[in-house]
Amino acid sequence: MTKINENYLKLKAGYLFPEIARRVKVFSEKNPSAKIIRLGIGDVTLPIVPSVVDAMVSAAKEMGTTQGFHGYGPEQGYSFLLKAIAENDYGKLGVNIQENEIFVSDGSKCDCGNIQEIFSHDAKIAVGDPVYPVYVDTNVMAGRTGDSGSDGRYENLIYMPSTRENGFHPDFPKEAPDLIYLCYPNNPTGTVATKETLKAWVEYAKKHKSIILFDSAYEAFISEKGIPRSIYEIEGAREVAIEFRSFSKTAGFTGLRCAYIVIPNELKGFTKDGKEVSVQSLWSRRHTTKFNGVSYVTQKAAEAVYSTRGKKEIAESIAYYMANAKAIREGLSKLGYDVFGGVNAPYIWLKTPKNMSSWDFFDHLLDKAQVVGTPGSGFGPSGEGYFRLSAFGKKEDVAEAIQRISALS
Ligand code: MLT
Repeated sequence: MTKINENYLKLKAGYLFPEIARRVKVFSEKNPSAKIIRLGIGDVTLPIVPSVVDAMVSAAKEMGTTQGFHGYGPEQGYSFLLKAIAENDYGKLGVNIQENEIFVSDGSKCDCGNIQEIFSHDAKIAVGDPVYPVYVDTNVMAGRTGDSGSDGRYENLIYMPSTRENGFHPDFPKEAPDLIYLCYPNNPTGTVATKETLKAWVEYAKKHKSIILFDSAYEAFISEKGIPRSIYEIEGAREVAIEFRSFSKTAGFTGLRCAYIVIPNELKGFTKDGKEVSVQSLWSRRHTTKFNGVSYVTQKAAEAVYSTRGKKEIAESIAYYMANAKAIREGLSKLGYDVFGGVNAPYIWLKTPKNMSSWDFFDHLLDKAQVVGTPGSGFGPSGEGYFRLSAFGKKEDVAEAIQRISALS
């Protein structure tokens, strides 16, 4: 008899986005002529920019030559990409990140999901609420939580509610966690953290010997001056934080797959008897054992994101999405909705009208306006009564979605 990992049975039925896709499929089968506008999952819609396409074509051709062929690459990433990341994503911020501290991967979802493996089974985990569901579900799968209660919360998980009352910035947990997941610009609420906020988290982590898992996948969408793009802009963060970055939203790589994680040399975890261990060395062992690197062609594509032409083209894509965010934010505000985010993030977080539940509002919008968003409760119990719209759609679809929602009002 083969026993299963029963922790999987604790998970809520389906992962959020497949559940949305399932409901949309049922609706379209019943209404085959309906033109559905999808502003649910944060998937980009603009094509890969020409400089990145050129780099891929040229790398693919190189692979077809004897001299230019590449087999297995370095698991951690090719030096040309590590160097470009260190210089452009960190050097420009005045932050010194070494090539050995960067690990290139095939996506932030995998990185955020896999990182917990190198920490103790009894590590105490703190997550924002609402939160990107991957942080929670992967810890449930690993057996760090109990069952989920009637309030939708898993036992043994520290929830840090982000509510309208606290400006969608979680308070410090009373019980000190070992791992703290933070995401800024935030998915799903679209809020950003100031330097003061991050400084306070770094101090908190130092005091409690906790590690911050800082998801910065949306930093490219920050438009206001003075907002930190990396946690390493905060003094002392190298001793307490791991950072996750992605090319998915920044450069339209959701279908190409490339991301990276930074683990500073100084970051230490502890054995049961209190001996210090390099977290980077553990991750390196895991990464080189379970992963064979991102393809050469994809890494060349990622390198092109940092070329002068690449930067210009990508800035245009980001401006396009942020114009969508503005249109959604302003359009819905005019209709009387309470809206948050959308200024430094590609997500708009709104209060559902007439106190509708998140899923009721989802069904209502799908049924009456054929607009798909993401129910806030799918991101955690404190998301109940909220709804997320993504700015990654086509400009004309966004305009039409607002028009349809306005017709409902
Ligand atoms: C989202 O919509 O929250 C994201 O697209 C999910 C992801 O990046 O995996």
